Amino acid sequence: MTAVDEETVRAFAVSRRAQAMPASPIRKLAPLAELAKARGTKVYHLNIGQPDIETPACMLDRLKLIEDKVLEYSPSTGTPAFLDSLRQYYVNRVGVPIETRQILATTGGSEAILFSFIACANEGDEVLVLEPFYANYRAFATMAGLNIVPVTSRGRDGFHLPPREVFEKALTPRTRIVIVCNPNNPTGTVYTRDELEMLAGFCRDHGLFLVSDEVYREFVYDGRKAVSALELKDADDFVIVVDSLSKRYSACGIRLGALVTRSGEVYDACLRMAQGRLSPPGLAQFIAVGAAGLGDEYTRAIVDEYQRRRDVLYEGLRTIPGVELAKPEGAFYCVPKLPVHDSEDFAVWLLTEFEHDGATVMIAPASGFYASDLGKSEIRIAYVLKEEDLRTSIELLRVALERYQRRDVAV
Ligand SMILES: Cc1ncc(COP(=O)(O)O)c(C=O)c1O
Repeated sequence: MTAVDEETVRAFAVSRRAQAMPASPIRKLAPLAELAKARGTKVYHLNIGQPDIETPACMLDRLKLIEDKVLEYSPSTGTPAFLDSLRQYYVNRVGVPIETRQILATTGGSEAILFSFIACANEGDEVLVLEPFYANYRAFATMAGLNIVPVTSRGRDGFHLPPREVFEKALTPRTRIVIVCNPNNPTGTVYTRDELEMLAGFCRDHGLFLVSDEVYREFVYDGRKAVSALELKDADDFVIVVDSLSKRYSACGIRLGALVTRSGEVYDACLRMAQGRLSPPGLAQFIAVGAAGLGDEYTRAIVDEYQRRRDVLYEGLRTIPGVELAKPEGAFYCVPKLPVHDSEDFAVWLLTEFEHDGATVMIAPASGFYASDLGKSEIRIAYVLKEEDLRTSIELLRVALERYQRRDVAV
């Protein structure tokens, strides 16, 4: 037995990567919410992005058509029917010419992120991430052995991109990937074409891959259009788009997404990983092709619903003294700044000590969405609740902040 084996057997230590794996900042406080519920307190969840809108019947109805006697593996790339339906979606709805051999079906957008990280960087390399960022990027980077390097976006700028110089300063010889989420979770920012062209120029000049997470593509407000990185000029060699059916069709449990790239080399590398994990979920793909029957009116109705919720939330939060928030432009999240020093302490207090009319709210402290030590006064809110529940939640926040601040003074 070698020294290394001996040590492993003796210690039964999980790997460094496993130890470095962060707990989800969204679910971290869940046990406290359960205790509050056990005490009989109603908890309004502003912390998690699980849409409450029904999955379209044309997808669910496909379940009744399943006649298979054997639930077989599907092709590693995805089924021809699903890949073709996604190709048509890109051509007809996104307005981007894509071929099926440039699309790889994945187990949610999550697997597409992991594949792209592993395909585009070696262990110890760095990923530039605009912070605050979707917290699971850190988990995927950890799995791939990569280090997250933050580039900060500021609430006062509506969390839009900082100038290119800031990206240049964050660059090191180990930088391999820039990841951008557009429309953004957690900030709700929708980047302009100029911003994305700037980012693409930066990547092109330094030989970096641009991973564009577009899982909220449809969710844009006030007449905006989300620009896909696949539309950017001279970027085919280095752009990888992460896509998902989770939010688009309110079908998070389907666990189906896609990696889309015009780079043959990246596609082939990801295909080998896809072959290694055999296949994406077959039943999910069978259900997903039902979405081809949905017209623009489906998207419009959902976007209108979320825009109304955004308005309720934004107008409500603005009237709470000390709360600062730029109007969210897309997705269904926002990062308001609260008049508190430690939003995690406030979030815990909400679940352990606060109650108003038998209810409280659960929020996600924003520090878990930062790699730097910023964000201590910020929270992330997901507005996936009905308008009436949102109004109640805002009222609860108002009362809670008043009481929490008085408590601070009393201490
Ligand atoms: C920004 C972002 N990217 C990717 C994902 C993963 O999506 P999926 O459910 O397709 O794995 C999510 C899920 O919430 C997300 O918010």
